[in-house]
Amino acid sequence: MSGENKRFPEGFLWGGATAANQLEGGFHEGNKGLNIADVLPGGKERLKVLKEPGFDFEIDNEKYNYPNHEAIDFYHRYKEDIALFAEMGFKVYRMSIAWSRIFPTGTELEPNEEGLAFYDRVFDELHKHGIEPVVTISHYEMPLTLVKDYGGWRSREVITFFERYAKAILNRYKGKVKYWMTFNEINSALHFPIMSMGFSVEEEETKYQQIFQGFHHQFVASSLAVKACKEIIPTAEIGCMILVAPVYSYDCNPENVMYSLQEEQIFTFFCGDVHVRGEYPAYSKRFFKEHNVMLDIQAGDLELIKEYTVDYIGFSYYMSLTQMKDKTGVEITPGNLLEGVKNPFLKASDWGWEIDPTGLRIILNKLYDRYQLPLFVVENGLGAYDKVEEDGSIQDDYRIDYLRSHIEAMAEAVEDGVDLMGYTSWGCIDLVSASTGEFSKRYGFIYVDKHDDGTGTLERKKKKSFDWYQRVIATNGEEL
Ligand code: BG6
Repeated sequence: MSGENKRFPEGFLWGGATAANQLEGGFHEGNKGLNIADVLPGGKERLKVLKEPGFDFEIDNEKYNYPNHEAIDFYHRYKEDIALFAEMGFKVYRMSIAWSRIFPTGTELEPNEEGLAFYDRVFDELHKHGIEPVVTISHYEMPLTLVKDYGGWRSREVITFFERYAKAILNRYKGKVKYWMTFNEINSALHFPIMSMGFSVEEEETKYQQIFQGFHHQFVASSLAVKACKEIIPTAEIGCMILVAPVYSYDCNPENVMYSLQEEQIFTFFCGDVHVRGEYPAYSKRFFKEHNVMLDIQAGDLELIKEYTVDYIGFSYYMSLTQMKDKTGVEITPGNLLEGVKNPFLKASDWGWEIDPTGLRIILNKLYDRYQLPLFVVENGLGAYDKVEEDGSIQDDYRIDYLRSHIEAMAEAVEDGVDLMGYTSWGCIDLVSASTGEFSKRYGFIYVDKHDDGTGTLERKKKKSFDWYQRVIATNGEEL
């Protein structure tokens, strides 16, 4: 820590975060293959459509629109966008590599040079501006062939394809990328496996069997990526990425407290426990028994998971979750791929996600108590409707308020003793929402003129929050 009165350590990694499928566009360019995000329809019904029995993972332009196809055209406009990130003073930019740009079907033996060259250009541009990339290897964009022909992460064969992909990018970018993460929000599969695991579960009875087997394959794959990273770029740091929500008990009824504790163990901590401690947690034994989960674990898997654990914990935080055992007649509130009981102390966003900055301080403390590894908030932000005023300005004070309160909560956690390495707010430039496929759910400091009906010039404009965040970074979080 640099000095007694400073809120954040010297060298704190301020920046913004995005994912390839939500901003690049160019879905057919540079020999890119289709990926799971390319068949996700736009609109609030997106997640429901995917759950419909018989959803065939085909593009049907008659029936749906596909906002991820053009997204915000970062594929062609990355220079302009990176210049804006630099103007805000970003130290890091969290982004992902689209797996199907590098291995179009996922099964090729050699990577696609055009895809590799694209990210070379992006990394060079970032370095030109002094911005360090933080790369997620897999962020909801697995090649569609692996989904359709292999059943996604249900198949053990996918581990081999993933390892080949991870090694190809680690080798290619060894001189350009020093921060890596394996799977985005790996635990989100518990509620919604399609985006991160490439399959949906129709049969309730085998749901957990399929999902936890998928996790096991991903844990092995993640450790293989950590191993490759250590061998190829010994100085790099490679983390996991989990969706975290502290789970509050609705009241002090011990039944509800126990229920909330178990929900937090399985949803919030389980994947982190394996990634960080290198073994299945004790509580998983009972959970597996009670939910008929029998993992197919092959020789060498557990040793690999034990040996190649992560260097840091990247996580997304948008909201806390409140739970009770019997929810009959109780108001339910929606959230980031999950839902809970309405918390009477919290206000919610336009999309119903409850806003809880103290929850961030709580989860930072819980994670650090549990793991004693550096933590990295790699997603946090407010999805809101923005209005362009007659003079062209966008007065997003609500976003500033949200971010300010969360950064203040981080400062408190640092004061509590938490080792926090950085903060990349989500959707630093407006992009396609993951859960609803909307452009109107905006997170950015930079407005993009693109709308849910597909219209818009794609012009970029700075919002009021742009200047605010620039000041935050310039003062290392002292001026909020
Ligand atoms: C996380 C994802 O779930 O939250 C991002 O990692 C996503 O991909 C973000 O965009 C916000 O969610 P949404 O649904 O508002 O885009």
